[in-house]
Amino acid sequence: MTRLLTTVGALLMLGLSLDIGAALAPGKTTVLITGANRGIGLEYVRQMSERGWNVIATARKPGEAPELQALAAKHSGVVIEQLDVTDQAGIDALAAKYQDQPIDILLLNAGLTPTYPSAFKPLAGVDFDIAQQSFEVNALGPLRMSRAFMPHVTASDKKQIIVISSKGGSFAESPKFPMMYEYRASKAALDMFMYTLAFETPKKGVTVTLLSPGQVNTAQNPALAGIKRPGTIEVEESVGKMLEVIDTLTPADNGKFLNYEDRREIPW
Ligand SMILES: NC(=O)c1ccc[n+]([C@@H]2O[C@H](COP(=O)([O-])OP(=O)(O)OC[C@H]3O[C@@H](n4cnc5c(N)ncnc54)[C@H](OP(=O)(O)O)[C@@H]3O)[C@@H](O)[C@H]2O)c1
Repeated sequence: MTRLLTTVGALLMLGLSLDIGAALAPGKTTVLITGANRGIGLEYVRQMSERGWNVIATARKPGEAPELQALAAKHSGVVIEQLDVTDQAGIDALAAKYQDQPIDILLLNAGLTPTYPSAFKPLAGVDFDIAQQSFEVNALGPLRMSRAFMPHVTASDKKQIIVISSKGGSFAESPKFPMMYEYRASKAALDMFMYTLAFETPKKGVTVTLLSPGQVNTAQNPALAGIKRPGTIEVEESVGKMLEVIDTLTPADNGKFLNYEDRREIPW
């Protein structure tokens, strides 16, 4: 009882609501997704909620996420939470709010996608501020989230941490031309963080797996808005195939980087 009151008091001091897990039905697979307001993250919310799963869908600006709000209105298992993955205090507050909620799949999807002008320029055009921001969002963000939510994942049935990486961060398979310095380096750093983490997750029974979503027709350079990029797939296909991979993961996939469509292991 004392612990409960202390927790409630701490939450009130943090200005958080008390509807802890209000819509999360017990006994169902529970997922927490970052960057759930658009693109791949939003499609994950759509497909996972259609399975009847509990989805804690996080977004930087929930008030500006009409499609996510519509999904939450349609599916009682979808709960929207505000979260910026660079905000350590915000991450800690959310982890405290859900401290008694097992999370089967921690889905680390949020990313700073290369639509910024310097992404398409060689060395002279590299933007060092964007490079630092990319490292914060794409590499440190998932590591911060993994640490804060490890107890919730460890307490669950599935015990999976799924991280959306990119072939752009692979030395072996990234495009052989000089662009996207900021993004590629941040994803390579992400891969190494997760590769390293995977050495300590087996003793907790947790599987950490990186996925490549393919080249997906999501965020675009505003100049290309409305134009389908050649060679891209639609978000429904990417997420549908990634979900098939996620469904088949076993502890043997801990520390691997897998392709969305054929489960092929992508070399670092
Ligand atoms: N699309 C592709 O072809 C492709 C290929 C390889 C890998 N990926 C990876 O797949 C993931 C999703 O990509 P996407 O195509 O869906 O990108 P997207 O459409 O640009 O969506 C990115 C998401 O990340 C969120 N985000 C950005 N910074 C954040 C922060 N600091 N804290 C929390 N959320 C933040 C965005 O929120 P806001 O709306 O608030 O900005 C948005 O919800 C990314 O990790 C990306 O690198 C994508």
